Amino acid sequence: MKIVVASSEAIPFAKTGGLADVASALSKALAAEGHEVSLFLPFYPQSTARRGISSDDFEPCPEKVMIPVGSKQVEASLLKASFPDSKVDVYLIDQPRYFDRPELYHENGRDYQDNCERFIFFSRAVMEFTSQLNLQPNIIHSNDWQTGLIPALLKIEYQNRPGFENTAAVYTIHNMAFQGQYWHWDMLLTGIDWKYFNRHQMEYFGQLNLLKTGIVFSDMITTVSPTYAKEIRTERFGYGLNGVLESHSDRLVGILNGVDTSEWNPETDPHLAAHYSVNTLSEGKAKCKAALQERMGLPRKPDTPLLGTISRMTDQKGFSLILDAAENLLATDVQMVFLGTGDPRHETAFSELAKRFPDKVATYIGFDEGLAHQIEAGLDLFLMPSQFEPCGLNQMYSLLYGTVPIVHEVGGLADSVVDAHAENLENGTANGFSFWHFDATVLYRQMRRAIDAYYDKPLWNQLIQNGMTKDWSWKQSAQNYLSVYQRASSYRNKSSQ
Ligand code: ADP
Ligand code: GLC
Repeated sequence: MKIVVASSEAIPFAKTGGLADVASALSKALAAEGHEVSLFLPFYPQSTARRGISSDDFEPCPEKVMIPVGSKQVEASLLKASFPDSKVDVYLIDQPRYFDRPELYHENGRDYQDNCERFIFFSRAVMEFTSQLNLQPNIIHSNDWQTGLIPALLKIEYQNRPGFENTAAVYTIHNMAFQGQYWHWDMLLTGIDWKYFNRHQMEYFGQLNLLKTGIVFSDMITTVSPTYAKEIRTERFGYGLNGVLESHSDRLVGILNGVDTSEWNPETDPHLAAHYSVNTLSEGKAKCKAALQERMGLPRKPDTPLLGTISRMTDQKGFSLILDAAENLLATDVQMVFLGTGDPRHETAFSELAKRFPDKVATYIGFDEGLAHQIEAGLDLFLMPSQFEPCGLNQMYSLLYGTVPIVHEVGGLADSVVDAHAENLENGTANGFSFWHFDATVLYRQMRRAIDAYYDKPLWNQLIQNGMTKDWSWKQSAQNYLSVYQRASSYRNKSSQ
């Protein structure tokens, strides 16, 4: 198959969260199965430079296109890159006016005011370059609100153009909480006829909604775990679009993300103080724990349980629960490490916690990928009590790194973490701790339960073993995406007959 993937971020070029990991890993997994994959993302020069990628790593392409954005015509040019270990063609769309900025979406807690315009431009540029490069895709796979316009552009403008005769649209929702909702006059920026601004298509209560647009116009819709696919059809998790998803539920599939094991593997990870596998765990992991304690300025205590998290610091990730539960737990012999950026409220609270307990808590406010790998390897217990979690990647990284996760039983957390209760221990599936009531006391109880297990070495080793030996790679998920692509192609053909 020929597949075009469009994403607003992808590692190693630009990343704010899991979408970046998934866009690259899925593209690579599909290419490994022999498919022709082109991955498009914006070129953010400041982000790529910060990530140590130099301009020599890009090849400028001669193609240029003019993109209509409202009444303006804006030039888009193209840079080509590749992954060292894969045949994916990576195309970065260059327009400094939109993308040469310190961050991807917001600065100092405020969204860039022209985000709608920036990603309408990007979505249109993906379609134009797909045409100009003559990619003739079977599938255009777009992701989240930033590329929600793409399925609409395909159906309304491109479907009958040469090169798009067999193209179906697949759309993946990574998070219902971010919908790209803008005032109705931004409809003019899309260049799409006002007749589509109605409650069945692009409008949501008088506003333009780009996530809804993606859902409504694609042939198949996916989200990033089977449980989240069910949850988003309910009021609690649907953020107002549960009715829309319910009415398109025959085209909605949940596929759990995998782990890119070329990036996340304790046997080869270049960021670690020592390498280890399930068979050489105790020595290697002990070294990583000591190195983490040292780096974070905590006393070296090999036998004290070390808990922590790596995350966007938002309400979604359950930081207020962690704070309350930590206050209680810190009366006992534990250490904690926190890495994240986000809501200034949470940043301040966790920085202050570290000041109050300098021998027990270390907080690093910032985005640091090397440190993220070291934390995954050095912790004993990973905290992920998210209020909701479409998939979540860190709990899977933890499982692969012999770090036992404690999670709220929602979305992808429910699909990957199996609670250590008797039945699951007996059938050999238990790999962590999970709870249902979203409450700090309940989280605290799970932390205590997990720490008791930490001191019960046979039980602890069993949990780690179960987590590390399961296949978390992209292989199965990529197969599931391929079946979705087949279904999308057959819908497309039916609807064009
Ligand atoms: P989300 O996409 O909702 O933020 P995921 O668990 O899917 O959550 O993915 C988050 C990704 O971002 C993981 O790869 C995680 O390690 C990374 N990450 C989050 N915050 C930081 C940070 N402050 N520094 C380094 N990596 C981070
Ligand atoms: C979103 C979700 C997260 C998911 C990631 C990648 O950011 O919040 O749960 O893992 O996308 O799909």
